Amino acid sequence: MAAPMPVALIDDDKDLRRATAQTLELAGFSVSAYEGAKAALAELSADFAGPVVTDIRMPEIDGLQLFAMLKGIDADLPVILMTGHGDIPMAVQAIQDGAYDFIAKPFAADRLVQSVRRAGEKRRLILENRMLRKAAEDAQENSPLIGQTPVMENLRKILRHIADTDVDVLVAGETGSGKEVVAQILHQWSHRRKGNFVALNCGALPETVIESELFGHEAGAFTGAQKRRTGRIEHASGGTLFLDEIESMPVATQVKMLRVLEMREITPLGTNEVRSVDLRVVAAAKIDLGDPDLRGDFREDLYYRLNVVTISIPPLRERRDDIPLLFSHFAARAAERFRREVPELSPEMRRHFASHAWPGNVRELSHYAERVVLGVEGGAAAPVPAQPTGGGTLPERLERYEAEIIRDALTANDGDVRSTIEALGIPRKTFYDKLQRHGINRGGYTARK
Ligand SMILES: Nc1ncnc2c1ncn2[C@@H]1O[C@H](COP(=O)(O)OP(=O)(O)OP(=O)(O)O)[C@@H](O)[C@H]1O
Ligand SMILES: [Mg+2]
Repeated sequence: MAAPMPVALIDDDKDLRRATAQTLELAGFSVSAYEGAKAALAELSADFAGPVVTDIRMPEIDGLQLFAMLKGIDADLPVILMTGHGDIPMAVQAIQDGAYDFIAKPFAADRLVQSVRRAGEKRRLILENRMLRKAAEDAQENSPLIGQTPVMENLRKILRHIADTDVDVLVAGETGSGKEVVAQILHQWSHRRKGNFVALNCGALPETVIESELFGHEAGAFTGAQKRRTGRIEHASGGTLFLDEIESMPVATQVKMLRVLEMREITPLGTNEVRSVDLRVVAAAKIDLGDPDLRGDFREDLYYRLNVVTISIPPLRERRDDIPLLFSHFAARAAERFRREVPELSPEMRRHFASHAWPGNVRELSHYAERVVLGVEGGAAAPVPAQPTGGGTLPERLERYEAEIIRDALTANDGDVRSTIEALGIPRKTFYDKLQRHGINRGGYTARK
């Protein structure tokens, strides 16, 4: 159970104060009542978690003055004004100045409760956004790899353990999931950071070029080789060699690479000279090279040589709890770059976070955040693809599809078990079994965490 939402109530009329407090308490709020603005100001601060409800006509400091002072404490504190008959023009002006709502006296209990509830929800989102933004800043300070889910915590722990060893690492993950970030961390967190981080995209270079790129050549080694050239491997000596898209490395090169990994030496083209290199190799693959069906013509021996340590980065849709934090980070960064306001997280955005399959993973999310900052994406959910993308066997894909459907249903029903089960049309036990199997945390979908 979440703690009840606090409400600050200020009214100099004792009877009205008591009655209003009672109404709000019956509706489930936790009310702090004050007989005047001074007493309230002494206690309210920028982290007050709920709305403020105040009478306008009060001796000393009146409700409008109080509203102005509260703006100084926290401009995002929702203030609801209770107004007597003659004060409505003033109240309308106050709304223009940013007051949340006004309620003309006498009012129905319902009207008040609804306004307070909406204001409270708004307040909750604002504080949550602030918290996320701060967490994103802190996270960025601690590590460029943002994420608070257990898998990401664990991943950082592993990186910390292995970064300063010379062990070669294979990083596996879908596009945009952070493979290069991981490779760079391995470099930065090791003594090799003084050397070069040399990235080579094995898929982007034609077969004829890749070997001279990797191993270098002497002048005249082949037609067109006019000058001696140091290869990337040698350039990375003392630092880190990042072989991106290793699955696309031509087979002939794979054989030579295997030799490099085993002997830690190279022979530039056009020479017989053997040069030793001090290397740490980090390779990245989008596919599971351990699977013979996916591996294709990728050499098994090279796979085993690279696979001393494999770091698998799960796709974003399998760590959805990291999405708000990542979004806040990218939105803040984009806002700074484009000189725009940092957007608040809206419920629509949250729905999009929860239901979208994110085939482009973190990169896609960062582009989404940029579009939101630029105002071209209001956060309204983009059409959800009929099927989450990504490969795998039919049963694996069906599993993923099922998990998506369950998440959608939970989102649509704010995590309410009964209505979610009804929507899905499955027995309660099956529902809970599936939650467990897919690692879905129902608590993450309730309106109030
Ligand atoms: N956990 C993370 N925290 C912060 N930023 C991240 C994280 N993961 C990825 N990014 C950012 O997302 C973008 C894509 O990450 P990266 O280039 O490392 O992905 P990749 O796995 O190498 O993708 P590809 O396979 O397409 O090359 C980059 O801008 C990167 O900084
Ligand atoms: Mg990459």
